[in-house]
Amino acid sequence: MCGIIGYVGRELVVPLLLDGLARLEYRGYDSAGIAVIAGDRILRHRQAGKVAALGAAIGETPCAATVGIGHTRWATHGAPSEENAHPHVDCRGRIAIIHNGIIENYRPLKEALLRDGHQFRSETDSEVLAHLIESQDGRDLPSAVAAAVSQAEGAFALAVLSLDHPGTIVVARRGSPLVIGRGASGTFVSSDIPALLGRATHVQFLDDDEVAELSEDGYRITTLDGRNVDRPEHQVTADPVSIQKGGYKHFMLKEIHEQARSVGETVREKASKTEDLVRLADLDPVTSGIEDVVLIACGTAYHAALVAEYLWEEHLRLPVRTMIASEFRIRSPHLTPRTLVIAVSQSGETIDTLMAVRRAREHGARVIALVNNEQSAIDREADGSLYTRAGIEIGVAATKTFTAQIAALGLFGLRLAQRAGTLPSERLRAELDDLSLLPGRIRETLRMERRIDRLAETFHHTSDVLFLARGVLYPVALEGALKLKEISYIHAEGYPAGEMKHGPIALIDEKTPVVVLVSRGIAYEKVLGNLEEVRARKGPVIALTDTPDDPAIGRLADHVLPVPTVGGISRPVLYTIPLQLLAYYIAVWRGTDVDQPRNLAKTVTVE
Ligand code: BG6
Repeated sequence: MCGIIGYVGRELVVPLLLDGLARLEYRGYDSAGIAVIAGDRILRHRQAGKVAALGAAIGETPCAATVGIGHTRWATHGAPSEENAHPHVDCRGRIAIIHNGIIENYRPLKEALLRDGHQFRSETDSEVLAHLIESQDGRDLPSAVAAAVSQAEGAFALAVLSLDHPGTIVVARRGSPLVIGRGASGTFVSSDIPALLGRATHVQFLDDDEVAELSEDGYRITTLDGRNVDRPEHQVTADPVSIQKGGYKHFMLKEIHEQARSVGETVREKASKTEDLVRLADLDPVTSGIEDVVLIACGTAYHAALVAEYLWEEHLRLPVRTMIASEFRIRSPHLTPRTLVIAVSQSGETIDTLMAVRRAREHGARVIALVNNEQSAIDREADGSLYTRAGIEIGVAATKTFTAQIAALGLFGLRLAQRAGTLPSERLRAELDDLSLLPGRIRETLRMERRIDRLAETFHHTSDVLFLARGVLYPVALEGALKLKEISYIHAEGYPAGEMKHGPIALIDEKTPVVVLVSRGIAYEKVLGNLEEVRARKGPVIALTDTPDDPAIGRLADHVLPVPTVGGISRPVLYTIPLQLLAYYIAVWRGTDVDQPRNLAKTVTVE
């Protein structure tokens, strides 16, 4: 999952490309490159490493070019290196391409092109596209690109420069996201909207198997077989401030601190305490008459979906299953037209979840998307959507979108139970009361930051950590372990506390800290029993609990982090925040790249 940027207009293109790539870097950051039309030749700069290194290598060299493309990479085929960095060119250096996705049949295509005398310079699958376009001699660029991608299998977002068409950029898409932006000085293409903030006023999302020709004054979209496509544009609403760190050391810390607002806004849009109402009626037509629910997602979103399964089973008298999207795709889950599939994804572009949505639809199931990005592919392909209002999330490790997903799914579950007549009204009132107080309780919990920083100092040398919990807090323990893995590279596992003695207890000794989530309302005595078992093996205990004054906790835990006492939807949200802060500060003490951890990317658009 790479980042793609392009511009054709009246402004100097090199600074625009470098700034765009810096904004897209969370999509992949192992190598980068740009190509511009400079008079009668294509000028290319490529570099292994971060965009800043590319910028430094380009330096202040004056370049009058106003048309160009840029790419930041997450390697799939061929190690991160200058040779494998994009843009790639054809044999004559007259065509340059950048690509996000995987060309699954690149080997047979490459062999045929090699037989035709083409010379390849990289190990990538992407380079095959430059030579395929080159082999469409005599066609105009849009139809050459259309002919080339019609031979490709797999996912792609592609942008093409050609010396024979110096005033245009041609782009094409299947599976990987691509958005066109119209600005005052010219036309942009990008993998997502953050790179266009403050530059484009209107955007157009390219659909699968569409080609667009961009020029200084606008763009023209056609299908692969050349039919014109006309679709309304969308106004850009987000402001550029939202993609700045706002004085925080890392985007992740900023986003952790934005959760009172992101959860508050997500709830406010969907519920009214004064009217005792969950306002999700627009989804009623999609949910009426459903007989079962399947939640599908990846990564952190999967943990939010699992929290929903625990929350919903209390009032929803329907079978609810949560499945990892990549597994859903290869299993044979029982799906009927009365099955509701809910796809949870912050980006709305994760390809495993997108393909799982398509599989669900093939089986006649109804699909509702929960996304943070309106107009994302999963949003556009669902029968109905609800949104988290977390704002743009830049930190690769998801934080504010997770807690917003829990709030949104929690409310959606209440709506389903309310419509099914299985939700007592006093229960709804209690939830809405708690949710109205949740932003304040989040701020209260964030006040533990300094204390958690000191705890992180104590434990940042550890090599293994176990997270234990029961009930609805178990998926939160999974999320705590994932956060620590993602940004500190420490091996960490989340486990149902009751399952500990059936295996993971073998890991426990004085060097393996155990983080336990304990709540009065969830099998309290049993979790205290698990704490005893950990103590008996000298495991250092960090207890997150809403009973900090219970002497038993004081006796069994080395470190106690108090969490406000609350039930329902609010509880998993509040227990998450100390775990996000713990992972963050342990990573800071270990000096890892918190916002762009190794080997990860914010949106996975390759299978
Ligand atoms: C991974 C991200 O690439 O994708 C995770 O690093 C994220 O943070 C996961 O949870 C799923 O992404 P999404 O956009 O589908 O929620």
